[in-house]
Amino acid sequence: MSFENKKIILGICGGIAAYKSCDIIRQFIKLKANVECILTKSGAEFITPLTLQTLSRNKVYIDMFTPFNKWEINHMSLAQKADIILVAPATADIIARLAYGRANDLLTCTILASTANVLVCPSMNSNMFNHKATQNNIAVLKSYGYKFIMPEEGELACQEHGNGRLAKIDIIVSAVKEFFK
Ligand SMILES: Cc1cc2nc3c(=O)[nH]c(=O)nc-3n(C[C@H](O)[C@H](O)[C@H](O)COP(=O)(O)O)c2cc1C
Repeated sequence: MSFENKKIILGICGGIAAYKSCDIIRQFIKLKANVECILTKSGAEFITPLTLQTLSRNKVYIDMFTPFNKWEINHMSLAQKADIILVAPATADIIARLAYGRANDLLTCTILASTANVLVCPSMNSNMFNHKATQNNIAVLKSYGYKFIMPEEGELACQEHGNGRLAKIDIIVSAVKEFFK
């Protein structure tokens, strides 16, 4: 299957699994997708825009207030272009912000302003993931029609074992393939 002519907006948040977004991008590029990355400010603490722009072959967006060009409003332009918005890894914080309809950065603003399907891939410590607050936020987002690829159990970056590892790249890519079918 080819993703030719498909625009995927990939939101990358501030978690250890941010480095795995590189493999996601490489898979999408192999499938000929047009990938545009929105990196949260926290995400940029974990992975550099240079790496993402090199792999995606596109400019990487972080800031809401630096215009891409003279006339475009950044988040509107990204929102309208997307065939799908994938958030991987998604932090507990972005899940909370999205559940509350916050629009306090480029990624939340773009998602709120878009009618594209949103696929969220949480990744965090298992206590954070299992916390009622996170589970309630996920339930709210599901009720809005957001789709989730749930994390898997295994060894976590905090050296604990539990539920919170980002889903396998193949599973994430397959879910996007399924969506484009
Ligand atoms: C070393 C380190 C690792 C972190 N890993 C995660 C993580 O895996 N998942 C998560 O939800 N938050 C994690 N955080 C906390 C987030 O970075 C923090 O909540 C941040 O506000 C998220 O912002 P964002 O959602 O805009 O990217 C981590 C923080 C640090 C310092």
